[in-house]
Amino acid sequence: MNTKRKILITGGAGFIGSHVVRLFVQKYSNYQVFNLDALTYAGNLENLNDIENAPNYTFIKGDITDENFINELFSTHKFDSVIHLAAESHVDRSITDPLAFVKTNVIGTMVLLNAFKSCWKDNFDGKLFYHISTDEVYGTLGETGLFTESTSYDPNSPYSASKASSDHFVRAYGETYNLPYVISNCSNNYGQNQFPEKLIPLFINNIINNKPLPVYGDGNYTRDWLYVKDHADAIDLIFHEGKQSETYNIGGFNEWKNIDLVKLLCQQMDKKLNRDLGASEKLITFVKDRPGHDLRYAIDASKINKELGWKPSVTFEEGLEKTIDWYLNNENWLNNVTSGTYKSYYQKQYS
Ligand code: NAD
Ligand code: DAU
Repeated sequence: MNTKRKILITGGAGFIGSHVVRLFVQKYSNYQVFNLDALTYAGNLENLNDIENAPNYTFIKGDITDENFINELFSTHKFDSVIHLAAESHVDRSITDPLAFVKTNVIGTMVLLNAFKSCWKDNFDGKLFYHISTDEVYGTLGETGLFTESTSYDPNSPYSASKASSDHFVRAYGETYNLPYVISNCSNNYGQNQFPEKLIPLFINNIINNKPLPVYGDGNYTRDWLYVKDHADAIDLIFHEGKQSETYNIGGFNEWKNIDLVKLLCQQMDKKLNRDLGASEKLITFVKDRPGHDLRYAIDASKINKELGWKPSVTFEEGLEKTIDWYLNNENWLNNVTSGTYKSYYQKQYS
């Protein structure tokens, strides 16, 4: 087994990052896990309350775009591996403020690559830079077909363009400087601790509060949904057993049209909230479409399945129920993240 000891996880206070941090801290007591996060609106240390005092866990507040700070951090700690999740992650925000996405997703990734490279002075034995990316870099599918690892990049939003650019830089550092890397491109995640700007938690919160459910366009857009803990397991597997310089696609084998997903969510919420069946569906409101809205994403995850034996562990119905239960049982978490600046974001995005 790989015996890497000092792992820097960036963006570990966010949605997916917090699940990855918890998994590594609990599973690998011989690793020292450093969670570097700027605590933007999407970062929340409440996500990690249960492990914050673990002896093999350290939180560092800091910005990946701050070159001096990042270089100093690497010379102090000499991280032998990086799992890089920190990013601006919401497509709608990238449409209103694209530059913020270039700064964090492109420049931030470059700063980390440079720091990692100069820390090890090109002697990369036993080191790894693991870059977490998205299926959105491949652009959009029509009604048929799947994204494979060899699908050409064709990003359509400022978010996906910034992620595509960061993927290219990681690969280029591998080719040019022999920097040891692996990249994974995952489909839509859902589960506990997701910030309620993304479809599923936003709609759960609105159903709880009897607010309209703003479905973009005609709702006939398709996404491939994966339970977040299954993504964290895939990251663990790729980190330890993935082949260097390779890309792995991760997906749920689980395509849903938005409108069908929203109807299923409404039915499950009606049951949980003891409302009349059909009550939540009445909240569905079709609103102006997202500009450049990708029609369909769907991942061919056969490479990670065949080479590393990974597959999702829960069905969508099970995962969705666990997710709903978590939000209903964690009202304080939801109230905390939806107070303050969330209100002005919501007003601007949906008014
Ligand atoms: P998120 O928005 O929930 O969390 C991002 C985290 O990064 C936050 O904790 C935030 O504080 C931190 N961060 C942002 N800018 C930073 C900076 N400049 N310096 C340091 N920290 C900073 O995102 P997520 O949904 O958990 O996504 C994590 C990663 O996974 C991203 O790289 C995203 O592109 C990728 N991804 C997400 C999904 C998904 O469905 N959410 C799917 C595939 C890939
Ligand atoms: O595919 C992976 C990507 O999935 C990740 O890289 C991104 O970080 C993540 O945000 C997600 O992107 P999407 O744009 O697909 O996710 P979002 O939850 O924003 O939207 C899912 C679908 O629901 C999409 O077709 C847009 C639609 N939607 C979304 C919101 C927020 C609505 O109809 N109404 C809404 O209010």
